[in-house]
Amino acid sequence: MLLRRPLTYAQPGDMNTPYYRPDLALVHDRGFAFHADGCAPDILTLLEPILQRRGMVLELGCGSGHLTRHLVEAGHRVIATDASLAMLDLTHDHVPGAEAVRQLVLPDDPMPPADAIVSVGHALSYLPTRHAVHHALASAADALNPQGVLALDLCDLSWGAHRSEEATVGRVGDDWAIVTRYLLPKPDVFVRQMAVFLRNDDGSWRRDDERHDNVLVDTSQIPTLLAGHSVQATVGPSFGAYPLPEGLMAVVGQKRPAAAARAPQPLSTGTG
Ligand SMILES: C[S@@+](CC[C@H](N)C(=O)[O-])C[C@H]1O[C@@H](n2cnc3c(N)ncnc32)[C@H](O)[C@@H]1O
Repeated sequence: MLLRRPLTYAQPGDMNTPYYRPDLALVHDRGFAFHADGCAPDILTLLEPILQRRGMVLELGCGSGHLTRHLVEAGHRVIATDASLAMLDLTHDHVPGAEAVRQLVLPDDPMPPADAIVSVGHALSYLPTRHAVHHALASAADALNPQGVLALDLCDLSWGAHRSEEATVGRVGDDWAIVTRYLLPKPDVFVRQMAVFLRNDDGSWRRDDERHDNVLVDTSQIPTLLAGHSVQATVGPSFGAYPLPEGLMAVVGQKRPAAAARAPQPLSTGTG
């Protein structure tokens, strides 16, 4: 079931201009499945213990449901969430087997308790500040049940260094095209300025423009942050075998068992 509520987007710039409006949502769906498809086998491996205990998977920034589909087809129970209603409409249509498809806007919307929290396609990097990213990570760690699994990717500070400023790249399909200009206005901000084209039924073309600001963070700090929320995590260039693009880092963690979180630290047992 797709749950709706009035539009509220926590984005920089014009608050009335949400990211991933209908045309960009469609183009992303048609042309950018490769990232979720590449990550899916590794994420499924990480989530095997969750599948065995029929745990609940919360997906953040699900987009049009490419990873969601892999999870549901593997037998997972999934709550798929995103800020963009256009993306959620697509997920709702593409993945009818999801437990729920609902709007969840990071970083402030409450997350339901979950046995795994997953996110690919650097959804957290769309937040306006490093503090907002840290807040979202802390909320995810707090929402995890004991021994729950965290697996998400996000843009490191090095993301910008691997891309040439002011480069323009294009991708095209039969009935869509996208032209993107990269900008690095600050060392910790990466901007995509996109012109999105879709063919109308009468053969004419329409255009929409979106600007996305991604915040880049020092991902080496994230394990310490998560440890303060009972999640032991590592940061690396892959969820397993599939290499992520340079500068995109995989955060993989596990929430401590309930008993371990409560237990006092063992006393030193000297032999002398
Ligand atoms: C690059 S897309 C990736 C989509 C999908 N995970 C995939 O890999 O195909 C990033 C997604 O993050 C979502 N997003 C951006 N800001 C968000 C926010 N504040 N809260 C939740 N989702 C957000 C976007 O709507 C978009 O669907």
